[in-house]
Amino acid sequence: MNSKVRVIIFLLCVTGISVFLNGHVLGRYSKYFFQLQDTSPCACEKCLSEDDLNFFNKSVEPFLSANYILSEDTFNWWKRLQNEARNFSTYKTTVDRLFQMFPPGPDVKEPSPDLCRTCAVVGNSRNLKGSHYGPLIDVNDIIMRINFGHTKGFEADVGTRTTHQIMYPESAMDLDNNSTHLVLIPFKIKDLEWLLKAFPTGKSYGPVKSKIKANKDLVMLINPAFMRYVHEVWLEKKGKYPSTGFMAFVLALHICDEVHVFGFGADKYRNWSHYWEKLKDSNLKTGPHPGTDEYRIIQKVAEQQKIKFYTGW
Ligand SMILES: *[C@@H]1O[C@H](CO)[C@@H](O)[C@H](O)[C@H]1NC(C)=O
Ligand SMILES: *[C@@H]1O[C@H](CO)[C@@H](O)[C@H](O)[C@H]1NC(C)=O
Ligand SMILES: *[C@@H]1O[C@H](CO)[C@@H](O)[C@H](O)[C@H]1NC(C)=O
Ligand SMILES: *[C@@H]1O[C@H](CO)[C@@H](O)[C@H](O)[C@H]1NC(C)=O
Repeated sequence: MNSKVRVIIFLLCVTGISVFLNGHVLGRYSKYFFQLQDTSPCACEKCLSEDDLNFFNKSVEPFLSANYILSEDTFNWWKRLQNEARNFSTYKTTVDRLFQMFPPGPDVKEPSPDLCRTCAVVGNSRNLKGSHYGPLIDVNDIIMRINFGHTKGFEADVGTRTTHQIMYPESAMDLDNNSTHLVLIPFKIKDLEWLLKAFPTGKSYGPVKSKIKANKDLVMLINPAFMRYVHEVWLEKKGKYPSTGFMAFVLALHICDEVHVFGFGADKYRNWSHYWEKLKDSNLKTGPHPGTDEYRIIQKVAEQQKIKFYTGW
């Protein structure tokens, strides 16, 4: 008798709680509950996930930070890219100096079930001309441009916003917006030293731009280990090292949930050139970079519908 009553009271309580949950909590926070149920890692329609692509290794840190420890093995890989003569301890001392001046950790939004981090990677191909992609580019949260990629005079085709400008000293240019991140890809210790000197005081070296207009608080440095991973895993060691554009592409896969790729490859006449240039020659010239392999990989990822690839007109 006593235990029957207890059971009934218990059942009534459970029912009451369920009704309460259904009526109030679930109704109000249904989005939250459903996300917990399907454990979607992001709030986009589709999220880029590591399992989708065999090249993809999210544990590789794209950016350097003050407490990151680069392996000597990777330093030895990196120093061959542009014949670095100086040693690992010089590298480490230089990086330590950088992090006294620049933010100790990268400014990157972590993935979250209630965020949809959308990105546009905008290459510099002439196939952007006449594309009217501007509005499609501008709606993204992150808009990465590469080297001398700029918007002035080309807004209808390339958009107006830039959140990340990815460069190395020889391809550096002033940023016209104080909210744009300068993302440096270092190929040698001199490139790191350039960054130390290119801001307010001091002199820089040689033929590269000695001063740069950019927000010091938004500087980020690409990790040599990330460069090595792009070269060895994504490109299977083809070419000497990856192009800035291809590294930007892989970077986007690492820090975004949805990736839109613009301005890579040749134009419809098969001419390779930059959108701001008069056509100089129609040959593919990609220097030490495996241009066609890079393009093929982006195409392959697009065919698997993991990214949106806009190939121009
Ligand atoms: C992914 O990268 C991490 C860090 O570099 C490495 O330890 C790990 O072996 C890599 N995983 C695969 C499957 O290559
Ligand atoms: C690295 O190079 C610096 C400067 O040339 C030198 O003083 C230092 O002894 C070298 N360190 C090692 C471990 O070789
Ligand atoms: C740019 O932003 C920084 C804060 O990150 C601020 O200290 C600086 O004054 C700004 N510079 C300009 C030119 O607006
Ligand atoms: C592209 O290159 C071809 C030669 O391969 C040339 O005939 C053509 O004029 C070029 N296209 C443009 C838009 O200049």
